[in-house]
Amino acid sequence: MNAPLLAMTGVVKSFGGVQALRGVDFDLKAGEIHALLGENGAGKSTLMNVLAGVHAPDEGAMAIDGAPVRFSNPREAQAAGIATIFQELDLVPGLDVAANLFLGRELTRPGGFLDVPAMRRQARERLEALDLAIDVERPVGELSIGHRQVVAIVKALSYASRVLIMDEPTAALTVGEVERLFAIMRRLSAGGVGIVYISHRLEEVPEIADRVTVMRDGRVAGETRPDAPQAELVRLLVGRPLEELYPRRAGRVGRRLLHLRDARFRPVRERAGWQAPRRISLDVHEGEIVGLAGVMGAGRTELLSALYGTGLAGRWDGGVEVDGRPVRLESIRAARRAGIAFVTDDRRGGGLMLRMAVARNLVMSVIPSISPAGFLSPAREGEAVRRSFGQFDIRPRRPEIAVGALSGGNQQKVVLAKEILGDPRLLLLDEPTRGVDVGAKGEIYARLRELAGQGLGILVASSEMPELVGLCDRIVVLREGCSVAAFEAGADEHAILAAANGKAPDVQP
Ligand SMILES: Nc1ncnc2c1ncn2[C@@H]1O[C@H](COP(=O)(O)OP(=O)(O)OP(=O)(O)O)[C@@H](O)[C@H]1O
Ligand SMILES: [Mg+2]
Repeated sequence: MNAPLLAMTGVVKSFGGVQALRGVDFDLKAGEIHALLGENGAGKSTLMNVLAGVHAPDEGAMAIDGAPVRFSNPREAQAAGIATIFQELDLVPGLDVAANLFLGRELTRPGGFLDVPAMRRQARERLEALDLAIDVERPVGELSIGHRQVVAIVKALSYASRVLIMDEPTAALTVGEVERLFAIMRRLSAGGVGIVYISHRLEEVPEIADRVTVMRDGRVAGETRPDAPQAELVRLLVGRPLEELYPRRAGRVGRRLLHLRDARFRPVRERAGWQAPRRISLDVHEGEIVGLAGVMGAGRTELLSALYGTGLAGRWDGGVEVDGRPVRLESIRAARRAGIAFVTDDRRGGGLMLRMAVARNLVMSVIPSISPAGFLSPAREGEAVRRSFGQFDIRPRRPEIAVGALSGGNQQKVVLAKEILGDPRLLLLDEPTRGVDVGAKGEIYARLRELAGQGLGILVASSEMPELVGLCDRIVVLREGCSVAAFEAGADEHAILAAANGKAPDVQP
């Protein structure tokens, strides 16, 4: 029998006291798409980091085409044809798209000068080959998360001659973009590239994978076929049957917290790709969870960030009221004074200080309220931290370690917990469960519903249609900066999609 393209055997890795991998065997065939699933913290990213030369394993071996290999850094892995799209994208926000694509392998002219026109031309060609219309001269930091993801993918593709590791590549993508990505993956695998595909979106598995390996707690919990029933996948994943994913709606609605009537945000300076809110009408009441649906570019993130004062500089006009009073939401300070909190879709850029301890990150935003003089009261800090760990089941239960050492999904829980600690009245959420495993998702939904039950109003943007339909009391559809339709709880996903794509008559909410 031929040796597989890649074989990893008995891989062990620990970080300080945390055993991330406890003896993992994993293999990959040429031309195969192998899905790697598991709960947050199961060890998926760590295993792939070992493969990609980021971490040296404590024990275990790797072989490519049957020949033992050992990578002491990512460059060596790349040289062997192994490329990674990391969960937390490794792009440089201040550099433009072309510069990011050629980072470390810049094209030069005689004399050592950067050949910027050539890099831009080639960058354009590479994006066009995949039907992607992205301006290669824009700084990556100005792109939407979805577009950044696409740039990271294109960048990795240029290295991936043998193995492509994709760590949650679709977390930020919308339905259409996921399809395009799958088409790219199929093309690569048909050419013999082996692909490791990590995702928390279980519904993608039968569509794209040839084989499935599930990890749990640093070990391989089992291998199944991609067409295994979802219930079986979930059982392997979490080690127990899962109850209802979406909590029951409470239905008790209080005062009107947020009222937008033909609201428009006028940025001082327009920015290409930033879809300013142009005509938005919607209400959020106490106790209510209102969803925002829309395709990428519809302006969901822009609406949330403009309400929180973190979008472009500019001003609102039309009707904008919080708690029955007209407000000018033009700065974070104004938003916070109005009781608004915001969880961005950009963990790395906005939410967390990755080198700081989990505990410190949690209490950062509430320091003024729990310690009025600016000094931290250790007792109150400890109490707040304990509450967060319990409420959101942050794992491992080690408040002293750096947030950057948590798995992606657990970082997301920290971001949510941190905003809740500030006791907001209106919570704005952008893709709140991105990268969160099925079990933890259910817990987050339950927590959000519970908080709504206590009077919090929630406005949540999501690209996951089942999440919007399952979680929300009402769903408002945005298109090109305008609210174009509204649906009640339990509405049909297809009807919402049709409205988002402009294939249904508009109904003003
Ligand atoms: N650099 C590090 N320092 C300390 N602990 C780490 C480090 N990297 C990972 N860990 C720990 O190793 C365990 C496995 O983490 P890993 O990131 O591999 O999980 P994952 O399966 O990718 O989860 P997710 O789905 O949330 O991304 C976790 O307990 C994590 O906290
Ligand atoms: Mg991970």
